[in-house]
Amino acid sequence: DLEAAERVVAELREACAARLDEVAAAMEAEMRAGLREEGGSKIKMIVSFVDNLPTGNEEGVFYALDLGGTNFRVLRVQLAGKDRRVAKRESKEVSIPPHLMSGNASELFGFIASALAKYVAAAGEGDGRQRELGFTFSFPVRQTSIASGTLIKWTKAFSVDDAVGEDVVAELQTAMEKQGVDMRVAALINDTVGTLAAGRYNDEDVVVGVILGTGSNAAYVEEASAIPKLKLEGGELPKSGNMVINTEWGNFYSPCLPITEYDQALDEESLNPGEQIFEKLVSGMYLGEIVRRVLLKIASQSSILGDVSHTNLKTRFSLRTPDISAMHHDGTPDLRVVADKLADNLRVRDTSLDTRKMVVDICDIVTGRSARLAAAGIVGILRKIGRAAPGDERRSVVAIDGGLFEHYAEFRKRLEATLVELLGEEASRLVEVKLTKDGSGLGAALIAAAHSQY
Ligand code: BG6
Ligand code: GLC
Repeated sequence: DLEAAERVVAELREACAARLDEVAAAMEAEMRAGLREEGGSKIKMIVSFVDNLPTGNEEGVFYALDLGGTNFRVLRVQLAGKDRRVAKRESKEVSIPPHLMSGNASELFGFIASALAKYVAAAGEGDGRQRELGFTFSFPVRQTSIASGTLIKWTKAFSVDDAVGEDVVAELQTAMEKQGVDMRVAALINDTVGTLAAGRYNDEDVVVGVILGTGSNAAYVEEASAIPKLKLEGGELPKSGNMVINTEWGNFYSPCLPITEYDQALDEESLNPGEQIFEKLVSGMYLGEIVRRVLLKIASQSSILGDVSHTNLKTRFSLRTPDISAMHHDGTPDLRVVADKLADNLRVRDTSLDTRKMVVDICDIVTGRSARLAAAGIVGILRKIGRAAPGDERRSVVAIDGGLFEHYAEFRKRLEATLVELLGEEASRLVEVKLTKDGSGLGAALIAAAHSQY
């Protein structure tokens, strides 16, 4: 009985092993293809219109909206004008009612604008000046300028159909007017771009921004001359010579990705089948669900988890990534935390210690694969920009945000170890990953400041 279960785990382990050098090389190749022409790759390599990153001298009061992570957030940031000083930073988290994630655009943007209206009223600006806003919208957007862009598709748990193809800034602006909020949207950015900007504000060597949370994605600083598809008005390249690219690596696909039967089934039953395949292997929205599917398979092949019909093993998303993190880090001798999670989330009771150990193993395999693939993606980007190559003496910092990286210690450990494994001891000494908490809100305010009209 236990043997049948062990076989499932052994097969899983094998199917999750990846040749990471190949993954990094494929990521790099797809990035190049995406930069060449629109539609050149599954990775969209979106031109962000951010050609200058913060200097540290940004000044003034700016608002920011942050939509796309676990919570929606409204922020107010007061930038002191020099020495990278944020004089004041306040924010409020609001959870988006689930029905709005699959409703219609005017309801969703109405909700956002009303949260903003309440927040602004409470802040009581009082001086009658029009304020400016940075909008972090963490979905793939075809950017048409620094402050406009059309939604290409939804990802993660959102599917508001009538917003697809629309300019999300125009939608927001209309909703704000209805709420009587007089504010100008000065910048529309992705959360990875915000994280990169906030990272750079605090550390000049930040060259990549990564999100490892509900979803996963990365942005980095590219040389404008290395973007064949870049066509700016007037045909000139930006003065800085640089352009931030939002890779949208969540949609990366390559035959070298280690995709299992569980991933295939998860994808087929998802809101966006066939899309965001890399994201479905890596990001926090899916890891718990993959583990649940493995456990369900074990239950079908053995009796160690009891009778499936008395459990929640068939209930989608009954295991979340924070749950598998808690089980993975269980330090009690009899794996009490694992027992409790299995009982509370899945109604699987009376498991033996061997069974619980097996569950920890599964968490380790699934999370290990995720962390290793994320590291390979980062290495692909570093290679693309010639960083951490032999002879490169520059320090390269990767700013990372998101719940998976922040709260899942084993994930982070594995990611860091894999970077060393792939880059080599020597080169990896100059590569640093840095948690940049709530980077995208601050980043939005900083980029809004850089594009202020006042
Ligand atoms: C936050 C950023 O800190 O991290 C968000 O400000 C981002 O924009 C989020 O989407 C990702 O984290 P999670 O884990 O909430 O998806
Ligand atoms: C999804 C979105 C992407 C975002 C990422 C992290 O992949 O498509 O835009 O950056 O999630 O939030």
